[in-house]
Amino acid sequence: MKVITVVGARPQFVKAAVVSHALREAGIDEIIVHTGQHYDPLLSQAFFSELGLPEPDVNLGVGSGSHAVQTGTMMVGLEAILRDKMYESDAMIVFGDTNSTLAAAIVAAKAGLPIAHVEAGLRSFNRRMPEELNRLVTDSLSTWLFCPTRSSFEQLEGEGHSSGLHLTGDVMYEATLRFSIGAIDPYDAMSDRAFGVLTLHRAENTDDPVRLNSIMQGVGELNMPILFPVHPRTKNRLKGISLPANITMVDPVGYRSMLSLVRRAEVVLTDSGGLQKESVWLGTRCITLRDETEWVETLEGRWNQLVGADPEKIQAAVERSTQGPAPTFGYVDGRFASEYIVEVLGH
Ligand code: UD1
Repeated sequence: MKVITVVGARPQFVKAAVVSHALREAGIDEIIVHTGQHYDPLLSQAFFSELGLPEPDVNLGVGSGSHAVQTGTMMVGLEAILRDKMYESDAMIVFGDTNSTLAAAIVAAKAGLPIAHVEAGLRSFNRRMPEELNRLVTDSLSTWLFCPTRSSFEQLEGEGHSSGLHLTGDVMYEATLRFSIGAIDPYDAMSDRAFGVLTLHRAENTDDPVRLNSIMQGVGELNMPILFPVHPRTKNRLKGISLPANITMVDPVGYRSMLSLVRRAEVVLTDSGGLQKESVWLGTRCITLRDETEWVETLEGRWNQLVGADPEKIQAAVERSTQGPAPTFGYVDGRFASEYIVEVLGH
């Protein structure tokens, strides 16, 4: 068995690190192709080194661009790899819902290469999100649909998928457990006070100045210091805007540093999918700066609250306490998702 794994954006390096490790353990050969969607060292290289993910065999160096330019350029590069049979392979593994996922899925499907989609079945039911479109297409083209949660599994059943469906648990859960052990963050000074962690990168928030200002106002009115590791996309949008005094903007932090910050924070404010889960798994409540979430399990007991970009809702959510223990989800039968995935692929 030989697989080609395609990654491109920060969260995919985390997911791939876990699956890649399990593939190696099982003796399955893997070729890693990096599309180059994320290229800043702090968003890309740092993750490979920190998580022990083997260096990519190929980096397509696609970089940033409009959706069509970015996705199309990736497709040209990926098609050449498959067409020229640079590597023998029996399957392609893709993760999540980025443009790299979409490009890889379309190219593999047209080349007749079976696709394994890790993190299948997630839905926001908001087709204005590029990620929702990427998920719908990728799921419809995949041979193996590896679902992280029962709700994602049931979603695909409801959509009529009957073969290749597997409820595996979440590779991010595994990554959170594995990489949070002994993790320390570089902002120890924050630890003597209750602090919040903010991240923001969704187009719906960053590309709409009214929403972006509204979020900054809401977070700025909170009575606690906020550490804000900022994505380059968001940094560009915030140029020339003066941030509220309680918000400290810093460079993107590594995965383990982030887990450590999240664990120690009083609250996480984010529009990231992964961070919603990581917060809840690490016992920190989350406030999601979106109108909907794919990770509905996190909402139980108000461990995660949806507030959109409304300053009043942000304030109210911070003041509201959680009910009961943090929800548990993302693993099945006490097994790690990566073991399950590799076992299915190896058969
Ligand atoms: C992408 C994914 C999103 C995922 C996120 C994880 C899509 C449509 N979006 O969003 O689903 O949650 O990755 O972080 O695939 N930029 C840099 N340096 C980089 C990368 C990006 O400066 O290394 C800047 C560029 O201005 C670029 C912008 O960020 O135009 C957006 O990057 P892009 O990869 O298109 O989307 P993300 O917002 O990172």
